[in-house]
Order: sequence, then structure tokens, then C-alpha cells
Amino acid sequence: MTKDPMTVAVIGTGYVGLGTAALLAHIGHTVTGIDISEEKINLLRAGQVPIHEPGLDDLLASVQDRLTWTTSYDSVHTADVIFICVGTPPGPDGTPDLQYVVSAAARIAPHLNGHAQVIVNKSTVPIGTGDYVQRLLEDHAPGYDHERHRVVSNPEFLREGTALQDSLYPDRIVLGGHPDALQIMARLYAPLIEQTFTAPAAAPRPETYTRPTVVNTTLQSAEMIKYAANAFLALKISFANEIAGLCERVGADIEEVATGIGLDGRIGTRFLNAGAGWGGSCFGKDTAGLISAGREHGYDMPILQAAIDINTRQRQVIIDKLMRQLRTLKGKRVTVLGMAFKPDTDDLRDAPAHDLITRLHQLGATVTAHDPIAMPRAAREWTHLTYREASSVQDALHRADAVIIVTEWSDYRTLDWNAHLKGMRGRLIIDARNIIRTPIDAHVEQIGREAPVGERRALT
Ligand SMILES: NC(=O)c1ccc[n+]([C@@H]2O[C@H](COP(=O)([O-])OP(=O)(O)OC[C@H]3O[C@@H](n4cnc5c(N)ncnc54)[C@H](O)[C@@H]3O)[C@@H](O)[C@H]2O)c1
Repeated sequence: MTKDPMTVAVIGTGYVGLGTAALLAHIGHTVTGIDISEEKINLLRAGQVPIHEPGLDDLLASVQDRLTWTTSYDSVHTADVIFICVGTPPGPDGTPDLQYVVSAAARIAPHLNGHAQVIVNKSTVPIGTGDYVQRLLEDHAPGYDHERHRVVSNPEFLREGTALQDSLYPDRIVLGGHPDALQIMARLYAPLIEQTFTAPAAAPRPETYTRPTVVNTTLQSAEMIKYAANAFLALKISFANEIAGLCERVGADIEEVATGIGLDGRIGTRFLNAGAGWGGSCFGKDTAGLISAGREHGYDMPILQAAIDINTRQRQVIIDKLMRQLRTLKGKRVTVLGMAFKPDTDDLRDAPAHDLITRLHQLGATVTAHDPIAMPRAAREWTHLTYREASSVQDALHRADAVIIVTEWSDYRTLDWNAHLKGMRGRLIIDARNIIRTPIDAHVEQIGREAPVGERRALT
């Protein structure tokens, strides 16, 4: 708990804003969460969390005395620190659309007071946006004083599905801006930096965790760190997928190869999973954003472009595997297991399942889809797709000619496949996440390896 409680406003109560509000309230600050969506604010006021994020509802409930939810910006006036956590979706050419950041800055400005206030950009924004926000505040705030009202870039690195662990026990905290403002941020984050807070039941402190490294830098470097980090992670996944394709052709096993190369400390084992390719709200958007920034400066970024191209091709790799076995998809029933872009979230943005359902339907298949959490959201957001929503995994597999495992939910990992296969018409499984670990009574195709492993040596 902080010895120096501050008053904080968090603009935008999506995945990042809610995580930020929960973290800051947990370490002892008083937080107002502000959103333009009345629906979200009404849910939050009623104690409901509008997104699926493990443990977040318990953490928010435990700190409700220090949390207020509103659609009004009035509380900005008394805030020491104001976080901007609004969306920055990609425009048609990949350039991030800054309209929500611009509107948030314009609405913050009239409420700035005569004291020192820090405006923190947590949204992922193109390099130079910090200066742009500063100028917007200047334009819209009558009493704006750049000595008192400083803009800081504090990019967010949380992953959906493990947001609490990532926020409470980060590898690093990146802060870009004027040293005076960074001092205020150091005070705000002191319990996080020193790890003096009590770990909440929903997110215990990992045994080996000590404390985060703080990277103090300029606005521009902080903004670039976020883009470059996401681009590098996307690159790692595309690299694994490219190598996986060759593994299939030469008889190597991508999982053993990934383990073998990842144990080299310079490479690292994480983010080398071959599969359906990346999805979600960040990697596609941020790689495209970086390429568009390069374009603005007449600077090509061929490595990033290749990572995007490989990711797009990976969707087709799955369709190709299906077509090789079934010849044609016309008149075939194909089941898609997993719709969210990754397990433990209901986020459907840029999900591989979206592209696969679209393509399967175009090729004449009758598609049934299932997801343990994201189906209600898909019913609202994927009305342009043609598929049947399954009521259970059993229902999803009923009379299917083939199944594609698209998201590695634990429900699918632990499924009694042999029992469920009985309801199927065909016996083809495209396991695009390599989760089937023992032989089952079906023809299983995996990515970059022969499946199932059977008597082969299990990977440690
Ligand atoms: N989701 C992630 O895993 C993640 C991780 C790291 C960084 N980011 C970045 O953080 C930012 C936010 O992402 P997100 O996933 O939380 O987005 P989101 O779409 O879940 O949430 C954005 C929220 O902002 C609200 N909003 C929009 N304009 C507003 C305004 N003027 N005033 C108040 N509220 C407003 C929306 O109603 C919405 O609730 C993006 O730039 C994203 O790239 C996201």
C-alpha cells in the first residue's frame, strides 16, 4: 500500500484501462474510471466487468472503496495523474486512427487545474503523439502551462488472459517524458517498483519475481519501445511458423526445434509457438503502424512486412491441410474450435477463427463454431459471418467431417477426444495449436510436426 496516496483519472475502461485502474487502486490510490460508453459504466457501477479477464472481477471488487466509474470528465480537475487508455485501431492503410486520443485530450484540457498534473499516454500511439497531445492540450486548455502539465508516455505491455500478473509483476516499466513528470510517476508507482504491496489472492506474486526495471527515457523512445517490442514478438511467431513449414517438408519437429533453439539465452523459449499465427488487437495493428511510420519517412521495413505476410499465409496453411484430405469442402461440415484470438479472453479482434470461418464458407463448407467464453460476443460482433453456434463441444463435433482447433483453450487440451469423436461423421482433426499429445482414433494434422506423438519421446 502506498504511503503517498494520489488521485488518478483513467480515461477508457477497456482491457488496458480496467487493468490500470485495478492496479492503481490496489496499491492505494483513489481512481476514477471514465468512459464514453454509458453501457460499460453502468455495468461497472453494478459491480460487473464488461470484459473477460481472469481474476479482474475479484480484484476490482476488493478495491471498490477507492474506485468510481463515470462518463463525466469532471474528476480530471482534481486528479494528480490522468491516464489515456483509449483505443487506437488501425485505419485502412495501417496508420493508427487517433480520433479517440484526440477526443480524450480535447475533453481533458478544460478540466486541467493550476497545479502540477501529469497526462500519461498508455494507449499505443505513433511516435510523436506525446508532443501532439501536448499541443492539443495547449490548444484546448485556457490556463495551460507546459511547466505544470506534462505529457508522459507509459506504454502498456499486459497480455489479455494474464493481465493481472503482467500489471502487478511487470518485467519493466517504461516511462518517457520530462524528468519532473517522471518523478511524479515514480511516486505513483513506488509500491509497484519496490513491490511493497500485498499480492492479491487473484494474482499471487511469482516465487522468483523480485522487482521491475524502470526505463526512464524520452517521449519518442518510450513510444518506439512499445512498437518495437510488439513487432519483435510478432516476428518471433512468424519465424517459428516459417521454420515449421520447412520442418514438415524435411521431417523435423518444430516443437523440438523451438525448444532446442530457445534454450539459447540469446533467443529465449517464449513466443516460438508455431500454429495458426498471431491475432488480437495489437500485433497486426502495431506491425502495420510501424510500417506506415516507415512509409511516412520513405523508409522500407522488409522484415516486418515479411512477418505480416507469413502470418497471412499461415491461415492458408490450415485450409490447405484440410483441402488435401477432403479434396473439396463443398457439402462438408467443418467445425472450428475456438473463436477468441487466444485462450482466457473474449477478445475477437483479428482472431484467426474469423478469417478461417470466412474462407471455409467461401469454399462451400457448412461451418459450426464453438468457444468456451467468446460465443456471446461473436453473436454480437460477427453477424457478417455465416456459421452455426454450437451449444457445447459435443454439439460442435456432431456429424462434422473435420475439426480445426484454432484456439488452445484448456477445455480442448483436456478433452476426451476418443469419446467425442464418436459423434463425428469424418475423422479429420487439424490441430492448428499442436495440443493433442497422445494418439487418438482420428487422422490428426499438426503444424510443423507429425502428430500425435505416441510412443515418441515426450518434450520436457
Ligand atoms: N488490449 C491489450 O492487450 C493491449 C495491450 C497493450 C496495449 N494496448 C493498447 O492500449 C490501448 C487501449 O486498448 P484496449 O484493448 O484497452 O482498448 P478497448 O477498445 O478495450 O478500450 C478502449 C476504451 O476507451 C473508450 N473510449 C474511447 N474514446 C473515449 C473517450 N474519448 N473518453 C473516454 N473513453 C473513451 C471506449 O469506449 C473503450 O471502452 C490501445 O492503444 C492498444 O493498442 C492494448
